Amino acid sequence: MSSYRPLVFAHRGGADALPEHTLGAYLRALDEGADGLECDVRLTRDGHLVCVHDRKLGRTSNGRGRVSTKTLAELDSLDFGSWHPGYPVDEEPLPELSRLLTLDRLLAAVRDSGRNVRLLIETKHPSRYGAEVERRLVKMLRRYGLADPKPDDPVQVTVMSFAALALRRVRAQAPALPTVYLIEILPPGIGRGRLPFGARIAGPGAALVRSRPGLIPAIRAAGHQAYVWTVNTQADLDMVLAHRVDGVITDRPRFVLDHLASC
Ligand code: G3P
Ligand code: CA
Repeated sequence: MSSYRPLVFAHRGGADALPEHTLGAYLRALDEGADGLECDVRLTRDGHLVCVHDRKLGRTSNGRGRVSTKTLAELDSLDFGSWHPGYPVDEEPLPELSRLLTLDRLLAAVRDSGRNVRLLIETKHPSRYGAEVERRLVKMLRRYGLADPKPDDPVQVTVMSFAALALRRVRAQAPALPTVYLIEILPPGIGRGRLPFGARIAGPGAALVRSRPGLIPAIRAAGHQAYVWTVNTQADLDMVLAHRVDGVITDRPRFVLDHLASC
């Protein structure tokens, strides 16, 4: 019997069941057995890294406007949870499922969990924020002792971006940090598996893997690993397992873990 088993990452904490990017979602994903967590980071007006996917607040909170125009204190007063169908309505307000998550809070919680956790941190919009997101990210990772990883460290951070520019900045400041080059549409050269700026891992979307069956073999032939997002259906899961990808990034970690356990 094959011992193949990919790493399972809870995308935005496992955004299907619980409000995305909330601490409660992340901790539940770890309780369910996820190997790792995925989060997006943006900068507030006063320079804090917060875990929010969208540029604007409207979809995932009761706030309005852009994240980058708000201070941390302003964002901290918003409700990031009760919009979600998985938010428990019959109970008292649950701060862990509705409070803004900062990267600082997520790193502290992961460290304090005492578990082995792989954390995928995606920096959003390096061109809009200049070099500040990556600069502040590396500085914070250094504060937690995570910027120069050792194999035995319980928490292992990997930085991801769709922008080669962001990977270049991370590499310049923290050469030992592994990076993922996220790919939605195939840029020239990547079809042959080559990745920019020392990225060790390719992160193609599931739709791209489906339309380019030769992509994962090319990535592997070039010596890279492949983490595929966002794998939420049985068909996509079957496809990426057939390709023996190294990581599965999913909004439904329990579904993926249950399937792997049944194989
Ligand atoms: O894990 C990569 C994936 O998160 C990229 O897409 O839009 O969900 O950040 P997005
Ligand atoms: Ca992301």
